[in-house]
Amino acid sequence: MKVGVFDSGLGGLTVVSAISDIFKGADIFYVADTMHAPYGEKTQEQILKRSIEITEFLINKHQISALIVACNTATSAAIKSLREKFNNLIIIGTEPGVKPAIESTKTNYIGILATPATLKGDKYQLLINELFESKEVKLIEQACPGLVEQIEKGEISSALTKSMLKSWLKPMIEKNADTIVLGCTHYPLVQVQIKEIMQYDITLIQTGLAIARRLEDLSIKKGHINEGSLGILIYATDKINENMIKKIFENSEYKNKITIRKYKI
Ligand code: DGL
Repeated sequence: MKVGVFDSGLGGLTVVSAISDIFKGADIFYVADTMHAPYGEKTQEQILKRSIEITEFLINKHQISALIVACNTATSAAIKSLREKFNNLIIIGTEPGVKPAIESTKTNYIGILATPATLKGDKYQLLINELFESKEVKLIEQACPGLVEQIEKGEISSALTKSMLKSWLKPMIEKNADTIVLGCTHYPLVQVQIKEIMQYDITLIQTGLAIARRLEDLSIKKGHINEGSLGILIYATDKINENMIKKIFENSEYKNKITIRKYKI
């Protein structure tokens, strides 16, 4: 089984890391589109164009049979078109975990951290409208421009990153939000810093494991045998912070077996 995964940079590797915990007997081809990061501050047309180019590359070069859009922003901008255009692929997208957050909150205040493009997108608005028809829960939505760039640079605990996080989290602390949705696959990489800034225990919702389970489920239905090991090859369309990659996979059995290649797509 050959699985393609992409994101604008390092973020989607948090999803690959979750996949590598449960998925077996496959080759994973990951594209970190660092040349065009961040996606969250681009137009829908620009993100769609890159999503199609990367999917075509993964099909032509590696004959993938499943594609994971490991990016909330690209899912919002492109998943519908990708499903129409590449209709024989298994395609799995990433959406902010608002539903599990509603199930988890006790204070009825939920913080949502995401990119500007994700929060503006129709897909997110639709998700919210569907879930909130009969709910008491209140959302505190916060776009985080600049956070993806800080993470790409490896500056996860610099003074600047912490002060950005502090100002975004302040309204959530004021309302006693007890659950925060990490609505961008980069943000689990600053979860320690988020927990530090919040002055009480919170639940952070991320979706990597749910995506990994969905991949396992859909592939097994198509005849995949979930045994053996994984191959992980990372293409970066521009430079990528290799120390961050080591950090993401520090507890993974594959940490010394990942190949990284710079490649123009
Ligand atoms: N990691 C991506 C997401 O989940 C996008 C980051 C970006 O490039 O803005 O939204």
